[in-house]
Amino acid sequence: MKIKIGNITVFLLDSYDMISKRAAAMVASQVTVKPKSVLGLATGSTPVGMYQELVKMYQKDEVDFSDIRTFNLDEYFPIQQDNEQSYAYYMNQNLFSHINIKKESIHIPNGATSDVGIECDVYDKAMEDAGGIDLQVLGIGNNGHIGFNEPNLHFETGTHVVELDAGTIQANARFFQSESEVPRQAISMGIRNIMNAKKIVLLANGAAKADIMEKMLYGEVSPHVPASVLQLHRDVTVLLDQEAGAKIRSHIK
Ligand code: PGA
Repeated sequence: MKIKIGNITVFLLDSYDMISKRAAAMVASQVTVKPKSVLGLATGSTPVGMYQELVKMYQKDEVDFSDIRTFNLDEYFPIQQDNEQSYAYYMNQNLFSHINIKKESIHIPNGATSDVGIECDVYDKAMEDAGGIDLQVLGIGNNGHIGFNEPNLHFETGTHVVELDAGTIQANARFFQSESEVPRQAISMGIRNIMNAKKIVLLANGAAKADIMEKMLYGEVSPHVPASVLQLHRDVTVLLDQEAGAKIRSHIK
């Protein structure tokens, strides 16, 4: 089912598989229509299925990634790129090593930088030089974060260093040996970077995301729920499975 909530188009889908396929189809058509597309990419467990679909489409010759450029939303700080928990490693494992993207077209904040202030400026400049993001893929944290823009008193604009929330550290500990190994900081695109994208697609699945999806779509726009700012964007598509969309379904019945 497809509904409109304010400016946002919401697809209430049956399963995680359907979210993954629809998101992959959106990315693939973006790249087909504009082979030199600049894609904004996300990590976490949610987009794994989308990346698998994109790899399958590539293997079937349905999409060519040779001219795209990519910018990832965020990276832990500090972290080495070859650390299996880094987002650089994740992107390589889930997508980049399986497709024909050029290495020099991949951008991920450098979590091993010795000057994080400069790294943030360089990242902003590289995005600007690329002409901005055509299609940004987003997940959402249980606390409403997008990228690592945690709930805050104000919206951070450009790429910046973030102190991770206790809840985010706890949520992400499942990927590490123990919670104490989760880095306490990250480098993240800011809200301006995300809002400057021409198109945005946000994916969420599972019951743990039901409450935050209701807040994001029906609540007031507030930096306490960073994803709520997407209500102000012109071209946002949200893809939800049954569980993540449960509260939204109750609004429309
Ligand atoms: P998840 O993370 O996909 O692992 O739920 C989403 C996020 O924190 O943005």
